[in-house]
Amino acid sequence: MTGPHQRELLERESAHLAPGASEESALGRRVFTEGRGAVLTDLDGNQYIDLAAGALTQSLGHCHPEVVAALTEQAGRLWNVHDFATADRAALCELLAALLPEELDTYAFFSTGAEAVEAALRAVQAVAEPGRNRIGALRHGFHGKTQGARMLVHWDIGHQAFAGNSVLGYSPYCYRCPLELEYPSCGVRCASLVRRHITEKPNISALVFEPVLGAAGVIVPPPGYWAQIADSCRENGVLLVADEVLTGGGRTGTFLAGERFGIEPDLVTLAKGLASGFPFAALAGRSAVLRHPETGRAGSTASTYANNPLGIAAAKATLEVVRRDTLLARVTELGALLEERLAELHARHQVLGEVRGLGLLHGLEFVRDRTSRAPAPEIAQAVYRHALDLGLRTAIGGHVLRLAPPFTIDRPLLEEGLALLDRALERATEDAR
Ligand SMILES: Cc1ncc(COP(=O)(O)O)c(C=O)c1O
Repeated sequence: MTGPHQRELLERESAHLAPGASEESALGRRVFTEGRGAVLTDLDGNQYIDLAAGALTQSLGHCHPEVVAALTEQAGRLWNVHDFATADRAALCELLAALLPEELDTYAFFSTGAEAVEAALRAVQAVAEPGRNRIGALRHGFHGKTQGARMLVHWDIGHQAFAGNSVLGYSPYCYRCPLELEYPSCGVRCASLVRRHITEKPNISALVFEPVLGAAGVIVPPPGYWAQIADSCRENGVLLVADEVLTGGGRTGTFLAGERFGIEPDLVTLAKGLASGFPFAALAGRSAVLRHPETGRAGSTASTYANNPLGIAAAKATLEVVRRDTLLARVTELGALLEERLAELHARHQVLGEVRGLGLLHGLEFVRDRTSRAPAPEIAQAVYRHALDLGLRTAIGGHVLRLAPPFTIDRPLLEEGLALLDRALERATEDAR
């Protein structure tokens, strides 16, 4: 239950605040006052284990002391001098060069994921051969809410979607296969159909994709999906633009999720886990694309908040910790535990149609029954609310709950969070009876 101080504040605010908040905050109705590590505190003093890591941003947990120190020091010194170099920017570039695949050696910095996606689209169009004026994307992909990014998104807030110049291919959503096939007997037909698009339409300049589709419910491709698609892009001169705003920075156990699938992209977008929740994003790319004379024209990567010194300080401090504390190995280790516990929950709770994920990013898909697989958003909502009441925060989107714990969470706290999830599932099942 939302406590009295929070209810009063939400009431006051609602007199002026425009509607349209996320499903998460609209259903959750909480006012958080503090975050430390994996624990949040609300205005009435209740505590929550945050298995959604802010907006899947807090890879190091809330208020990591080293990131707070770096930001505080920077905040006392310098906030904005447009995109002039700062002492930290060169160091951040070197850190990215050490963490990313070798060929992704050139970087531009922005404030939000959507802004980095827009910059990627501009770069693609700058280097595209004449006549290549369409962008490929995947159904169920999510790339942000700016107009260019929305051109690639055909779901979410549907009435605002516009097709623009995009061509959509099938995503590897095996649990709800649009072709009504089963893996592996399907021969990954979804990928062959994307491949056919790529091969037969000579006007596609790039494929923009999430290696693991995050917002649509953590859709993890089966083996063979990316190999087929990436090869056909390479053979046909179509650039690979991996949108790793959500998965990048280590969330799946490798710095880029694409590394798990052998994808070698031309451009990559990064944001959420990059700067511990401070608004910051990066576009990383091969020098052939980002240093191309057309891409690199004066002003092409500049904007008021791009290269902001505060964001750079937060990103540098975050990545230093990720690297020094070998957190990618920790993600793999804790991810195995998470996967094991979720498999146990799946075995016990019939409302869970499927649980799936990689590393510390998992999705729980709720169904009315396992035979019809009819989506059950009402059950997802009930679990989400009960979890909050029990002191656990998850992320909700339609009939899927997502779990993305901080990389730094203690094992016992993760186990405790999953035990609360188990109780929330029991309560929601009782409600549905
Ligand atoms: C894969 C992906 N791309 C882009 C975005 C947009 O990022 P932002 O909300 O920072 O604009 C998101 C946001 O969730 C995302 O998940």
